[in-house]
Order: sequence, then structure tokens, then C-alpha cells
Amino acid sequence: MLAKKVEDILNLQIEREDYSSQLYLSMASWAENQGFGGVANWLYMQSDEERMHMLKFVKYINDRDGKASICGLDKPPVEFEDIFKLFDAVLKHERYISNSINEIVAVCMEEKDFTTNSWLQWFVTEQIEEEASVKSIIDKLKLLGEKNLYMFDRDVPSMRGGGGNEAV
Ligand code: FEO
Repeated sequence: MLAKKVEDILNLQIEREDYSSQLYLSMASWAENQGFGGVANWLYMQSDEERMHMLKFVKYINDRDGKASICGLDKPPVEFEDIFKLFDAVLKHERYISNSINEIVAVCMEEKDFTTNSWLQWFVTEQIEEEASVKSIIDKLKLLGEKNLYMFDRDVPSMRGGGGNEAV
């Protein structure tokens, strides 16, 4: 049985993961319209992954006799200045998500919910990987610069997860 405080903050995370999925979907659609098929591909995959994260929270809350609630979301932005700013926004968003996972861990400790805390460790590790992967994409993007966006777009779909050490 989940403490009310834990259930509430887990439900808030459903909303955040769901918004992440919508945000990356919106970014993917923008990138596709700009002719960046590779970037769009990366973002579509990322959007699917966020939906999977959202579902993990839904199932966990219900499995623990809580009640997962799905709510309406704010519309994500639909215009992005350029590919550089887009990936900066992805990193900023992932840092926000990492902080929100840490907040949940803090509430679990406060409520002595060590079961949920242990379940959350998957997300703690996942966030380390996600931030590292996006940071590595930004580094490559900076190295390649404006002139090599074609190459970057071609190779970015393979730069997913595990710190992104793949060659561009
Ligand atoms: Fe589900 Fe990228 O955080």
C-alpha cells in the first residue's frame, strides 16, 4: 500500500513522463518538416521511450494498490529555432526530469517507503544514461558545426543510450 504522499508524487511523474513523450514528438515532427530525418528518427524513438517510462509508473502505482491517474497535458511548443537549440532544450528537460526523480526518492525516504525507493533506482540510472547520451550528442554537434549538419543528421539515430560513444 502506498502512502498518499508517495502516490501523489508518483502520479505527478506520470504527467511529467507523458509530457516528455509529447514534447519529443513535437520536436520530431518539427525536425521532420525541416528535412532532418535522422534527428526526427532519434526524437520519435525518444518519445516512445518516454511513453514506456510513463507506463511503468502507471503499472507500478496500480500494482501497489494505488490509483494511477491520467490527466490532460499542456500543449508542447511546436516551433524550435534550430537543431542546436533543440538539443539544448532536450538536455535541459532531461535535467528537470532527473531532479523530479530525485524528489520522489526524497519523499520515499521521508515516508520510509524503501520498496518504491528500490523500484525507482532503475530511473535514477536511466537518467544518468539519458543525460550522458544527450550531452554527447551536443558535443558532437558542436564539433561538426553548421556545415556538417547533413553528416550529423545521418548518424544521430545510432547515438542512443549508454553514454553515446558511437562515432559520427
Ligand atoms: Fe523519462 Fe527522459 O526521462
